[in-house]
Amino acid sequence: MSGDSASLSVDIGVVRHGPHVEGDLGCKCEESWFGVHIKLQPHVGMRTKYKGESEAFTEEDLKGKEPFSQFREWFEEACKHPSILEANAVCLATATRDGIPSARQVLLKGYGTDGFRFFTNYDSRKGRELAENPRAALNFYWEPLKKAVRVEGHVEKLSASESDDYFHSRPLPSQIGAVVSEQSKPIASRNVLISREAVMMEQYGEGSKQVPRPKHWGGYLVVPEVIEFWQGQTNRIHDRIQFRRQKTGDEPDGILLHQGDCGWVYERLSP
Ligand SMILES: Cc1cc2nc3c(=O)[nH]c(=O)nc-3n(C[C@H](O)[C@H](O)[C@H](O)COP(=O)(O)O)c2cc1C
Repeated sequence: MSGDSASLSVDIGVVRHGPHVEGDLGCKCEESWFGVHIKLQPHVGMRTKYKGESEAFTEEDLKGKEPFSQFREWFEEACKHPSILEANAVCLATATRDGIPSARQVLLKGYGTDGFRFFTNYDSRKGRELAENPRAALNFYWEPLKKAVRVEGHVEKLSASESDDYFHSRPLPSQIGAVVSEQSKPIASRNVLISREAVMMEQYGEGSKQVPRPKHWGGYLVVPEVIEFWQGQTNRIHDRIQFRRQKTGDEPDGILLHQGDCGWVYERLSP
């Protein structure tokens, strides 16, 4: 099957692994799907044009010798782009103490030289993983711009007062949604949530009382140790400039490693 208008081509049913073993697994797998490997054709559709050579992203283009000015420049560009509807959507990766990873999208709610802020349920899977292993990675990709930013660092909870302020700045349905959802836990049906929501609406719907922020809901700050800027190029010689915090033994030679400002060094990585 190939998509004509969609930039995707799939080739269904060409690679089948082994016999159909529905009975062996004791499950009712759809025969037409079981063991099918959908192969995305590399030569059709998905090879979109990136940038011309004139748009290479070089060290001279950096907004500053620390990563925050550059992040701001790219983030604001993404926010203004008419085809990017949620420039602040970002993939957040966490891991258990044993290093088993998990990733999901969250919305960036603030950033500054101290780090990157997002809000969630502290008892969710990500919250539990961050409690036992307070490190995370963020990955933004703004496809129309062919720009990506990767952030790695340690994670701290925001103060209760900052979480309160943000919680109460949200629309009432979002506040109630945060209260009624035990995020990441199994639930019998959607109706359970709808009923809980109705009870909350009766109590708080008039707006006469403030919805208290649940103690298990609040913000995190990802304090960056590494921030990489990736600019895709049509010739596949993509640009990657990575900033990292200068450590003992990091001696910038101006060739591979460059001295940055405010305790940062930066280097170009092979694409
Ligand atoms: C674009 C987008 C933005 C999202 N933003 C948030 C967010 O800011 N906070 C949040 O807790 N979940 C957000 N979610 C839902 C998460 O992706 C995820 O389903 C939820 O946080 C549970 O993840 P966990 O079980 O790994 O903890 C968002 C989902 C999408 C697709």
